[in-house]
Amino acid sequence: MHFDAIGRVPGDPILGLMELYAQDANPHKFDLGVGVYKDDQGLTPIPHAVKLAEQRLVDTQTTKTYIGGHGNAAFGTLLCELVLGADSTVLGERRAGATQTPGGTGALRLSADFIAQSLPGRGVWLSDPTWPIHESIFARAGLKVSHYPYVGADNRLDVAAMLATLTTVPEGDVVLLHACCHNPTGFDLSQDDWRQVLQIVRERRLLPLIDFAYQGFGDGLEQDAWAVRLFAAELPEVLVTSSCSKNFGLYSDRVGALIVCAADAEKLTDVRSQLANTARNLWSTPPDHGAAVVATILGDVELRALWSGEVEAMRARIAQLRAGLVDALAPHGLAERFAHIGTQRGMFSYTGLSAEQVKQLREKHSVYMVSSGRANVAGIDATRLNSLAQAIADVSPNY
Ligand code: LMR
Repeated sequence: MHFDAIGRVPGDPILGLMELYAQDANPHKFDLGVGVYKDDQGLTPIPHAVKLAEQRLVDTQTTKTYIGGHGNAAFGTLLCELVLGADSTVLGERRAGATQTPGGTGALRLSADFIAQSLPGRGVWLSDPTWPIHESIFARAGLKVSHYPYVGADNRLDVAAMLATLTTVPEGDVVLLHACCHNPTGFDLSQDDWRQVLQIVRERRLLPLIDFAYQGFGDGLEQDAWAVRLFAAELPEVLVTSSCSKNFGLYSDRVGALIVCAADAEKLTDVRSQLANTARNLWSTPPDHGAAVVATILGDVELRALWSGEVEAMRARIAQLRAGLVDALAPHGLAERFAHIGTQRGMFSYTGLSAEQVKQLREKHSVYMVSSGRANVAGIDATRLNSLAQAIADVSPNY
C-alpha cells in the first residue's frame, strides 16, 4: 500500500496538553499548558468589543469574495498604527506595510520563506529557549538555525551571555527577538538591554525579526510596543510578526500580519511583491473574518476604547495571579525560590520546575504545564491559588 512506510510522529507537546487536560476527570485540575487566556470562570472569553464588531459585520457585510494577497487594507493600516504607533515616522514616510497572515504563526512562516527565497545564505538566530515552533518553522524553510543564550542555569535572564553571542553573529544574519512577554520564559529585556541589542544589530548589520504575539499583556498596549518602535525608528529595515490571537481573543479565527519596514517606499513595494507571491503559494489569500473584526474595532472610537479596557483587564488579572501565586507559596517557604514568577511578564512563567516535577504535578495533582517547566499563569483559577501552591510544594521537596 502507498502509506505502508509512513510512521507516526508524536503529537504537538503544547497542543497535546489540551487533549490530556480535557480527558482528565479530576474536577480540581489546573490547565497551565497552552497559551490561552482564561477568566475567573476558567473560560477563554470572546471580548465584548469582538462580539459587537462581529454583529456589525453580519449586518453590513455584502460579500465573501477573496480579499487580496496582503489581506484587508484597513486592517493592515490600523494594525501598523497599533504596532508602530499612530505618529510613527516610518508610517509617515510610507515605508512600512502589513501583509495579513493566518495568525502570528502564519507571519512567521511567511517571514521564513521570504528569508529563504529573497535573502539566501542568511542564518536565523533564536533565543535559547524559545517557542518550539520557531525552531521548526525556520528549519523547515531550509534556514540554518542557531541560538543565543537567554536564560542561565539558575533560571534567570542572562543578558550578558546574550549580548556576547550576538556580537559573534555573522553579518547579515536574522535575529529573532521577542518584543515582550517572552515565550516560554516570561523574562523580558529592560529598555537599557534593548538599546544594547540595537547597537549590536546595527554594528553587525543584522536583520531584526521581532515576534510580537502578546501586545498588551505585559505592561500595556503602548508600553509593550516600546522596543518595536525603537528598532523601527532607529533602523532602516525591520520585520515584525504580529498576532491578534491573544489581545483580541481571536485565537481560532487566525489573525496576524507580517509588518515590513523598508528603507523607502519603492523598496517596500518590491519586498511586498515578494510576500504576496510567497503567500499565494502558501494559503493564496488570508481568511477574512478575524481581520475584519480587528479593523472594525480599531477603526471605531467606542469599540476601540471598549477593547483597550478589556485588554487592560486581562493584563491586570495576569499580574494579580502572578503576585497571588508568590504569596500563596510563601507559607511553604517557597516565596523566594519562585519570586521570579512575580516579576516575569505576560502569560508565561518559566518556573524552574524540572520535567520530572512537571510530570509529578500532572500525575499526582492534575496540574498541566509544558515539560520545560513553562506555566501559563493566565490559566490559573484565582480561587484555588492555595491548592496550586500546595501541589507545587509537594513536588519541590528540596526547598
Ligand atoms: C503557546 O505557546 O502555548 C501558544 O503560542 C499557543 C501555541 O500555538 O503553541
